[in-house]
Amino acid sequence: MQPGRTCLAVILAAGEGTRMKSQRPKVLHEMAGRSLLGHALAAVAAAGADAVAVVIGPDRPDVAAEVEALLPSARVFVQAERRGTAHAVLAARAALAEGYDDVLVAFADTPLVRPETFLSLRAGLADGAPVVALGFEAADPTGYGRFVMRDGVLEAIVEHKDASAAERTIQFCNAGLMALDGRHALAILDSIGNSNAQNEFYLTDAPALARAKGLKVVALSAPESEVQGVNDRAQLAAAEAEFQRRKRLAVMKEGATLIAPETVFFSYDTTIGSDVLIEPNVVFGPGVSVADGAVIHAFSHLEGAEVGPQASVGPYGRLRPGAKLARKAKVGNFVEIKAADIGEGAKVSHLTYIGDASVGAEANIGAGTITCNYDGFFKYKTTIGAGAFVGSNSSLVAPVTIGDGAYVGSGSVITSDVPPDGLAIARGRQVGRDGWAKVFREKAKVRKLSAAKNTD
Ligand code: UD1
Ligand code: MG
Repeated sequence: MQPGRTCLAVILAAGEGTRMKSQRPKVLHEMAGRSLLGHALAAVAAAGADAVAVVIGPDRPDVAAEVEALLPSARVFVQAERRGTAHAVLAARAALAEGYDDVLVAFADTPLVRPETFLSLRAGLADGAPVVALGFEAADPTGYGRFVMRDGVLEAIVEHKDASAAERTIQFCNAGLMALDGRHALAILDSIGNSNAQNEFYLTDAPALARAKGLKVVALSAPESEVQGVNDRAQLAAAEAEFQRRKRLAVMKEGATLIAPETVFFSYDTTIGSDVLIEPNVVFGPGVSVADGAVIHAFSHLEGAEVGPQASVGPYGRLRPGAKLARKAKVGNFVEIKAADIGEGAKVSHLTYIGDASVGAEANIGAGTITCNYDGFFKYKTTIGAGAFVGSNSSLVAPVTIGDGAYVGSGSVITSDVPPDGLAIARGRQVGRDGWAKVFREKAKVRKLSAAKNTD
């Protein structure tokens, strides 16, 4: 953070995103379970922005709604016509005029920029450079603005379309992010013209104009992987891959074991404790936390779920939103849990659906148990007490309560509450006839023989 300096972040989100070939605006496409715009908002917030302005295109209520949902304090400005990046920043003039110390400009389609990088741009401002630009060494610089450096100082940024053949050989390119000192920002932005190849108002003219005013300009640099932008689905997948690479490393650094990291997929907000073991092919949707010492076996899918210390899930476990596993709870193979608390040490080991329920500590839920929680209109709750034992292949028709320590006989359809320590058996009573099968087989053989003769 930059103590004592106020900060306004201006996020440009007016991209058309036509190359996404989508009904959805580009910045609402998701990486790791959160919109690209959401990533940009989170990064500038983490870099200490006191105020955030998001510049969107006209007729984009969906983008405005996303801003409102994710960061209600942010203000939305509409850039009526797409006339360049400086023009876009100036759409937020009212916010700029409020006089922040630092102005950060970020692109909503560049979702991998770390808060630390925004902080280093701010540190450049605090060190007395009114313009700090972020560059990167481009593997292929085509299309990017080039940093024209002289004696290690950024002289100007030249857009690809305006660059000479010599300038086009420069590989140090503009990432697009920029920090401006708030005392100079409006004057610099207002002095930017549009006499260039695209007749656009380029934010990238800011460094040269600042230098002409005798102001110091600094160029910082970031890895290309951090500043990669998203313009089409292939780049979206590339950004996702980079996010996952980073997250896997971070999770392992915090003490989790990933046997095959490249097969495990996290969301932006997944939290994983230490000594957690994650087997191959596991997917974490948004909203999952896994506490210390838990094991997530192969081929499990978790979202909106809390996995307690030393609990275990899978293989082939499915935790849906509201699943909450207490310490040492076990959810085994082909088990689905939704909106249910599974108590300490409770076991739901095989082929089961537990939804809208609570399962007490040390309860044992037999294979094939189903909570019948839905009648086509409403959902109902099933309560299973501590130490209860539900026999295999039972249907628990909610609302229903199985008391603490109660037993349910296998194959039961339970429609009434079972008292604590009681037994409920709700199935057809077994009948038996000694020797029946032998008699049946002999008669059947005779019938079959005579049928075969008749067709000869
Ligand atoms: C921009 C930079 C270029 C840099 C590159 C990095 C300028 C002039 N050029 O070029 O130096 O190398 O990014 O990716 O800044 N936007 C608006 N309104 C506009 C124009 C743009 O909101 O009128 C937004 C876009 O939605 C996008 C961002 O600004 O998020 C950048 O615009 P884009 O057209 O992609 O600029 P580039 O040509 O890629
Ligand atoms: Mg671009």
